[in-house]
Amino acid sequence: MTDPKKLFIKTYGCQMNVYDSERMAEALGAEGYVATDIAEDADMVLLNTCHIREKAAEKVYSELGRLKPLKLAKPHLKIGVAGCVAQAEGEEIIRRMPIVDVVVGPQSYHRLPAMARAAEAGRKSVVTEFPVEDKFDHLPARPLATTRPAAFLTVQEGCDKFCAFCVVPYTRGAEVSRPAQRIIAEARALVDKGVREITLLGQNVNAYHGTGAGGDWGLARLVRELAAIDGLARIRYTTSHPNDMSDDLIAAHGQEPKLMPYLHLPVQSGSDRILKAMNRRHTAENYIRLVERIRAARPDIMMSGDFIVGFPGETDADFEATLELVREVKYGMAYSFRYSARPGTPAAERPEVAAEIADARLQMLQALIARQQREAQEAMVGRKVSVLFEKPGRLAGQLVGKSDYLHAVHVTAASAALGDIAKVRITESAANSLAGELIAE
Ligand code: SAH
Ligand code: SF4
Ligand code: F3S
Repeated sequence: MTDPKKLFIKTYGCQMNVYDSERMAEALGAEGYVATDIAEDADMVLLNTCHIREKAAEKVYSELGRLKPLKLAKPHLKIGVAGCVAQAEGEEIIRRMPIVDVVVGPQSYHRLPAMARAAEAGRKSVVTEFPVEDKFDHLPARPLATTRPAAFLTVQEGCDKFCAFCVVPYTRGAEVSRPAQRIIAEARALVDKGVREITLLGQNVNAYHGTGAGGDWGLARLVRELAAIDGLARIRYTTSHPNDMSDDLIAAHGQEPKLMPYLHLPVQSGSDRILKAMNRRHTAENYIRLVERIRAARPDIMMSGDFIVGFPGETDADFEATLELVREVKYGMAYSFRYSARPGTPAAERPEVAAEIADARLQMLQALIARQQREAQEAMVGRKVSVLFEKPGRLAGQLVGKSDYLHAVHVTAASAALGDIAKVRITESAANSLAGELIAE
């Protein structure tokens, strides 16, 4: 018997890329590839890439540069580029980096096995058209590999919103929702393998409208049906758009105990002028009222968001409005980015804010967000939360897991095991995590 071929995958970008990497590994697994954590051992290296900001996209070329000596030393090594940079740049990647054998976009990776075979026979291939078929119909059933207690599950993909700064509608294509029964079957298979928590993924996950029994299902209906699966303890979903937050979904946060009290709801800016220029189609006031309605349904919900600073035309007053919105909403967690002009997007044509100004604003916003995150963590001290243990901690006997509110929690827990959900009293708040102790029940 010959040694199995080894596959090394490096994943950049969002959670959907993490999910896609698992599915690509499974598809290539059916071709005889086994996963390795060591690039030097691999017969195929696959980079699953992100195009969202310039820095993210450029990382791919520096990584390919690092792989060059490996390819020279090991000529049979195959190198693939998948994900959103593959979709955006296509053949250009091979032109710039001739060591690349395979370029495959996010909607075409079901063709990877055939592309890998072609590469083994010495033929390069590039597939980036948006196929009419659904890739999920052509991939092996899930999961082939053993899974962790918390898993991702893509339910919706693509985006029709066209925010003026964003490449996602171009790299992922139009919004498509997977049929509800397929999602439920995949969730059941994950739960059978020991998964306790599922995060439903979509670029606009709350715009989900899949075919289900009796017609079109929205995300709220999907969540309720998934909640009926025995053994599945927790459901989350990400990422949502404010304009797709239906009354039904808001109500579900108050009614469905398996739906966790954490919601990532990007707003990008607190200035109506900038929101308009971004083509967000909502105002700061719309967003703040929406958060109030969500909190009325689930008072303890932890809010999270995304912000862009230095969007073209952003003045000091616009930026002040963003700070004001953050002060008003009080986030448990938030991500903020300096605007990055992306090729092909409408905003890339507009004059940019000076880099020093954008950097100074980013620092200010990040300081405010860091303060809110610390306050949200400190407010947890003394409280009772549930924790799903996902991995061993650094200290002996320690486990690390996530609370209902998505805080990382360290617990020294002789009587608990990975995959357990335990009641924990929070005792301490550290820089990026909490510590707690098991509560005897
Ligand atoms: N709805 C998507 C958003 C993806 S992009 C999802 O599935 O998560 C994640 C975040 O990156 C956005 O919310 C935005 O804050 C940021 N972002 C997107 N394009 C950007 C750009 N051109 N420059 C800086 N940040 C950007
Ligand atoms: Fe990008 Fe806007 Fe779509 Fe989110 S909603 S993926 S930010 S275009
Ligand atoms: Fe990046 Fe594509 Fe996700 S651009 S953020 S990997 S959808």
